[in-house]
Formats: sequence, C-alpha cells, structure tokens
Amino acid sequence: MSANHDNKFNFEASAASDDSIREVHAKLQSNKPDKPHGYPALPLVMLGIMCCIGFFGSIYMVHYSIRFDPLVVNAHANRAKPGISEKPTLTRAQLGKSIYLANCATCHQPTGGGVPGAFPPLAGSEWVTGTEERLVRIVLHGLQGPIKVAGNDYNNVMAPLGAVLKDEQIANVLSYVRQTWGNNAPDVEPATVAKIRADTASHSGYWTAEELLKIGN
Ligand code: HEC
Repeated sequence: MSANHDNKFNFEASAASDDSIREVHAKLQSNKPDKPHGYPALPLVMLGIMCCIGFFGSIYMVHYSIRFDPLVVNAHANRAKPGISEKPTLTRAQLGKSIYLANCATCHQPTGGGVPGAFPPLAGSEWVTGTEERLVRIVLHGLQGPIKVAGNDYNNVMAPLGAVLKDEQIANVLSYVRQTWGNNAPDVEPATVAKIRADTASHSGYWTAEELLKIGN
C-alpha cells in the first residue's frame, strides 16, 4: 500500500506476470478472424452472376427489343412508315417507263409525240393500241418504208430492238406506250412476245407497213 501512496509504479505489485500476459495475447489472437488472402469468394461469385446477366441480357435485348422502337409497346400503332409500302408491286406500264426512256424516247420523244416528218408519234397511234401482233413485230425486227400514223405519212427506218430487249422488257415497254399519253390498251404479256418471237424466227429484214397490215387484227 505504501507504494501506491508513493505514486510510483510497482512492477512487482502488478497482478500480471509475463506468462499471463502472453497467455492473454494468445487468447486474443486466436479469437481474431484470419486475415483474408486475395479476394473473398462470395463477391467474386456475385460479380460473375452480374456479368452473366449483363451478357445474356444484351443478347436478349438485341433479339427482342425491336431496336427500341417505341411503337412496340402500342399494340394498336400503325407500323407502316410513311413512304415505305409493304412490297411495291409495279404494273408492267410502270416498269416499262425507264425502258421507254432508254430505248425509244430519242426518236419518239418522252412525250410520245414523235418528230413531225421524221419519227411518228406513239401517242394516239393506231399501231400502238391496235393488235399486239404488229406492235411486237415492229419492236422485234424494225420497220421501214411508207407508213400512215394518226393521219400523217412517214417514210423512214426504225432499227430492230429484238436482240437488245428481252421478252419481258418488250412486254413492259409496250404496256407502257399502250397506257400512256391518253392511250388505253391492255398489257402485253411476255409470253405473247415470246410466241411472236418464235413464230417470226425465220423472218429476216425489217417489216413494212404493208406486210404488217396483212397480219392479225
Ligand atoms: C432510232 C429511232 C427510233 C427508235 C429508237 C425507236 N423507234 Fe419506233 N419508229 C421509228 C421510225 C422512224 C418509225 C417509222 C418507220 C417508217 O417510216 O416505216 C417508227 C415506228 C414505230 C411504230 C409504228 C408507228 C407508230 O408511230 O405507231 C411503233 C409502234 C414504234 N415505232 C414503237 C417503238 C418503240 C416501242 C420503241 C422502243 C422500244 C421504238 N419505237 C424505238 C424510229 C424509232
């Protein structure tokens, strides 16, 4: 007691011996959890699961998101986009227009009006709206000599186009001239062109109007 009164630290009086201190330390240490080595396993598994969700989620989105189209949530929305029709089905006459402009318009003019004294008109021509038998022959093998078209006389030469244009192209271009500029006659079918091509395979040289007038009606 006297030591305490002296306010001096007395090692001998201390209750703890060296051994007891070591013992307490060892106890404390054994209670402490092991310091983890590397990354703990559970967060790694979580990370893996989240990566999988991200990966397969992206694949799902690509397949089923319809490109984030906002209309997908509206069952009643009209999905047709303006200007884009389902599958445009062009008529023969529509398909024939570009063929006409590329192969006929230099002479017969884009208006179908021809050139007076040189190239007869297709607009208002009885040769155009008359029998296909003559019309197809003119395009296949050409035409020369005197011809009366819509009341006017011509005497010139039109080169054959049978080697340049396929049956379907001839059918389309003739459907175009038959249904444009006020002309009104039915389509010419490729089968008709093919048949006339076969029927006239032995024909050589250009047709004359006189010859053609004897054919068909
Ligand atoms: C190089 C000029 C030229 C081209 C290209 C041409 N034609 Fe002609 N076409 C003529 C001439 C010239 C005549 C009249 C021939 C004659 O005087 O005997 C004629 C006559 C015709 C006739 C009969 C007369 C009439 O006016 O109806 C038809 C039909 C016709 N052409 C259609 C066509 C079609 C279709 C094409 C294109 C696929 C075409 N032609 C391309 C010059 C041409």
